[in-house]
Amino acid sequence: MTPTRPTPTRLVLDVDTGIDDSLALLYLLASPDAEILGIACTAGNVPVEQVAANNLNWLGVCDAPDIEVAVGARIPLVCPLRTTEDTHGPQGIGHALLPDSGRRLSDRTATDMWVDLVRRHPGELVGLVTGPLTNLALALRDEPRLPHLLHRLVVMGGAFHHPGNTTPTSEWNVSVDPEAAKEVFDAFVGLPADRRPIVCGLDVTETIEMTPTHLRRLADAAGSSPDEIISPDDDSDVRSLADNTVVRHLSDAIRFYMEFHRTHDQGFLAHMHDPFAAAVALNPSIVKTRPATVDVELQGTITRGTTVADWSGHWGRPPNVDVAVETDPAAFFEELIGRVGRYAKSVG
Ligand code: RIB
Ligand code: CA
Repeated sequence: MTPTRPTPTRLVLDVDTGIDDSLALLYLLASPDAEILGIACTAGNVPVEQVAANNLNWLGVCDAPDIEVAVGARIPLVCPLRTTEDTHGPQGIGHALLPDSGRRLSDRTATDMWVDLVRRHPGELVGLVTGPLTNLALALRDEPRLPHLLHRLVVMGGAFHHPGNTTPTSEWNVSVDPEAAKEVFDAFVGLPADRRPIVCGLDVTETIEMTPTHLRRLADAAGSSPDEIISPDDDSDVRSLADNTVVRHLSDAIRFYMEFHRTHDQGFLAHMHDPFAAAVALNPSIVKTRPATVDVELQGTITRGTTVADWSGHWGRPPNVDVAVETDPAAFFEELIGRVGRYAKSVG
């Protein structure tokens, strides 16, 4: 009897693509146990129109199926939009220059897509948010049952017992739209323990340090040549010569990210926040979590956008989140390198 393939995890992505969002998308496209039903775009790393174009163009580079890409929030709920081209590059994909895919955007908004998909597939879908939570907050306003209609939510965001990367205490996705993050965390209260959102904060995602060796191994797995070696000593105008298309563009994107981390004294490496959250969405067992009541500081003059976890019930409110506290980065990279390498080889 032919073995039956396990049912893939069906996902709604919400992204601010971004270099690490790009690798998260490749990881999911490379995963036979993942089915992407829709990609919601929000402003964050770069403006939302650029985020949407980046997703369409990565899908084009990969000759991926026609996955719905919907434009969402152009600005946060309350505060002015901040973007971070210094981190992710002028177009949000580092030094990569992706060919225009010619693919069309969805006719509906990201919020409408969120609401329609969860209503159409009650209890089935996993939501993965790797950008500011503006779209999801708006979807919750339209459909308050959303937390119960989703099977699970995984968020890359926040910092708990760890410094922020945007202010001393706040992480970018939450910092861009703290009001949205609070509305989302508040809405997901009261779910059963195995359905609580998993929040992957910097505490864990900054242990996911991609190095030039990881990238070289990924290129090897793709059968790409010449050897893909990004060196901290390269001139600033050096770009990939990889004969594998996905490897070439991915390498140019990641090079920019490594240059950024070096500039900020973090080493010539790249924190791969979003691909890690994507891996958790497919397999929550790769991360150790701890339940907490999480809220977001909105009024603090120096702490606005800080995620605060009440681990001990001080506030008398039930846990609303499972906070990621520990993982095995080496095991994650073995999985990432194998999956994306094989996928890049198949794309050619
Ligand atoms: O703080 C890291 C997060 O902010 C990542 O999702 C990165 O892409 C940016 O969105
Ligand atoms: Ca992101």
